[in-house]
Amino acid sequence: MQVVSSVEELREQLADWRHAGDHIALVPTMGNLHEGHLSLVKLAREHAERVVVSIFVNPTQFAGGEDFDEYPRTPERDTRRLKLARVDLIFVPDVETMYPFGIDNATSVTVPALTEELCGSFRPGHFDGVTAVVSRLFSLVQPDVAVFGQKDYQQQIIIRRMTADLGFPIEIITAPTVREDDGLAKSSRNQYLSEEERAMAPILYTTISRVADAIVAGKRDYAALEKKAIAELQKAGLKPEYVSVRKAGDLGEPDEAARRLVVLAAARLGEARLIDNVMAER
Ligand code: PAJ
Repeated sequence: MQVVSSVEELREQLADWRHAGDHIALVPTMGNLHEGHLSLVKLAREHAERVVVSIFVNPTQFAGGEDFDEYPRTPERDTRRLKLARVDLIFVPDVETMYPFGIDNATSVTVPALTEELCGSFRPGHFDGVTAVVSRLFSLVQPDVAVFGQKDYQQQIIIRRMTADLGFPIEIITAPTVREDDGLAKSSRNQYLSEEERAMAPILYTTISRVADAIVAGKRDYAALEKKAIAELQKAGLKPEYVSVRKAGDLGEPDEAARRLVVLAAARLGEARLIDNVMAER
């Protein structure tokens, strides 16, 4: 396994693989890898002969006052885990490599509307940072496939839209959410929870799962279901930002005809901001 930080080294290795006829899969990450990330690597392996994982804590997707400085960085442990997972190359660029003209002068890629609601309305500019870095990674690596987690549902939808709109010849694959035994979605940010908060955290998943069950059972008053779920989260001691029932395909407001739905939620708990989602087919 190679660990490279420059564009030149990256291009050289990729060119060799392409010359040999190998397909390339990309798994973008911010490091501090857990089983969720490793499940993406495993899925990537099933789709390409070569797997590239990028590790880059992307400053442009953190707003002022967010946790960019505190974000856990564990490069040695990540490298060990990726080697065991038989990854072919880790790309660990620095900020100057990803943004050669500086962050403030960086060319921007904006997916309108979709980026401004749900998580976007609580984290202004966040998704512009995500599309900025993912579009650069797509251009540098030029993978055949790229794998993202369902855990970040809105992110995955935005990346699909960007890929289609800019004509990147890349197949986007979405991997299911990996959870702790008690249902909490695995996340690097779970480390911010105290022991007491950690015990409370699974309520986010149980609450949205109940909403999904109600929809599957035939309930159609989505606004009432959302309101009830928010009240339940508040009662449990969380600070919900939103609970929202949307169309799974494009995150539009569900109409009568919509069959594939997704229940999405975000809540603050102590220092952590938790997000989760579950599908509801009716
Ligand atoms: P990060 O939070 O490190 O996540 C990297 C990838 O792992 C994302 O596609 C995310 O959805 C997926 N992932 C995280 N937790 C998961 C879980 N419990 N189960 C399944 N997949 C999970 O998301 C980002 O980084 C960044 O925004 C990035 C796309 C790398 C751009 O900077």
